[in-house]
Amino acid sequence: MSEEQSEGRGSFTGRLGFVLAAAASAVGLGNLWRFPYLTSHYGGGMFVIVYIVLAVTFGFSLMVAEIAIGRRTGKSCISAFGDLAKKYKWIGVLAAIIPALIVPYYCVIGGWVTKWFATTVVGDLSTLTSDGGGYWWSYITGGIEGMGGPMIWFFVFAALCLLCVIVGVDKGIEKVSKVLMPMLLIMMVAITIYELTLPGIWDGIVYYFNPDVSKLNGGTFLGAISQIFYSMSLAMGIMITYGSYMKKDVSIEKSARNISLIDTTVAILAGLMIVPPAYIFGFGDSAGMGLMFVALPQVFAQMPAGEFVAPVFYLLVVFAALTSAVSLLETVVSVFIDGAKVKRKMSIIISSVLLFVIGVIVVLGFGPLMTDLSPFDQGAGWLGILDTLTNSFLMPIVAILTCVFIAYVVKVSFVTDEVESEGNAFMFKRPFEYMIKYICPICLAAILIFGTLDMFGIYSVY
Ligand code: PHE
Repeated sequence: MSEEQSEGRGSFTGRLGFVLAAAASAVGLGNLWRFPYLTSHYGGGMFVIVYIVLAVTFGFSLMVAEIAIGRRTGKSCISAFGDLAKKYKWIGVLAAIIPALIVPYYCVIGGWVTKWFATTVVGDLSTLTSDGGGYWWSYITGGIEGMGGPMIWFFVFAALCLLCVIVGVDKGIEKVSKVLMPMLLIMMVAITIYELTLPGIWDGIVYYFNPDVSKLNGGTFLGAISQIFYSMSLAMGIMITYGSYMKKDVSIEKSARNISLIDTTVAILAGLMIVPPAYIFGFGDSAGMGLMFVALPQVFAQMPAGEFVAPVFYLLVVFAALTSAVSLLETVVSVFIDGAKVKRKMSIIISSVLLFVIGVIVVLGFGPLMTDLSPFDQGAGWLGILDTLTNSFLMPIVAILTCVFIAYVVKVSFVTDEVESEGNAFMFKRPFEYMIKYICPICLAAILIFGTLDMFGIYSVY
């Protein structure tokens, strides 16, 4: 947040402003890139259903809790935990480390999207579809333009993000996303409708929606819960910070419901746009995390006027990714201001050094710095390692700690009172209390333990 805001604590213009700003942070590569490839990986419809169930239970509850803590304390995450109970400041610190680990690899993927935009805008769509589905992997591993190619696009995206943070565009983002988010949604719907004309698409759609019970296993839950945190921007202090800027008379419950709804709808739609064609083109799981970069160009290549649709679509994705990346980097910046008491300028410098150093390692992780830490690296080098570390370990840990902190240190009423302040109703108060006190911490602990055992090959959840 910009300087005058952090001193005077500016606030969003009301519920719509708040919901849109938070949704702009939530809707990003998590929905468009990560959700579709995970759905393919975990076998289609079953994953989609588990995701939705977890979003309305775990995701919604944690979002209410975080926004309420933020608004009640008026602080970002480090100070919020620290002020409530000095002993527990470290939970805030732990949460704050997560965005710092995510933003570098987020910008690497943002760089890929920017490259896909740059390629299609000059009419080179056919390059992306050359070599069957092999172009993406060749490109990121340096087989096309050497490592310099992906490196430059990482720099371009990261520099854009940094620029937004330096200029301080939070208010601008609120305005821009009012236009661009609906445009992206319309575009996604239109592309999906076009896809209905592809021969055999029905098989893909059935694959996407049909819950095949034989595909349900511990892994489905593991993948889905990591995706909830990532996509809904939870368990990393973001929603606490957003909450701190929320006006008192705005309903937290309704806002959380709307943000969850927007985020989940975009994810399901992105999946519907990407997974069925990927299925019929035969990519399925083989494209791994490249699914979006491999499957969509094939769709555009067949679409009438596809060479015009493609650049517009990628540009909108660049924006969606940028708004999320900016909110991640803003959080990192505010962490150093809050936690290390440095000036904003200094904090921006430290954050960007971190961003660029880790980002370069991630880019080179597909080339000379390739490591083999399977299955921890998901076959994607340092990007995979950071992704697993944050989504499968740190976020569940922070989420468990947040629940325990609320339930047993400050008490659940600390949150529920805030939700009910100024006469706002809290419809799901009872279920919320159960979720935070028992269900979330216990289930998340189980997921974390089994996930860890699985990762180290001690016990298989599949
Ligand atoms: N939720 C964002 C996405 O889906 C990622 C993100 C996480 C953005 C945390 C900001 C903060 O892409």
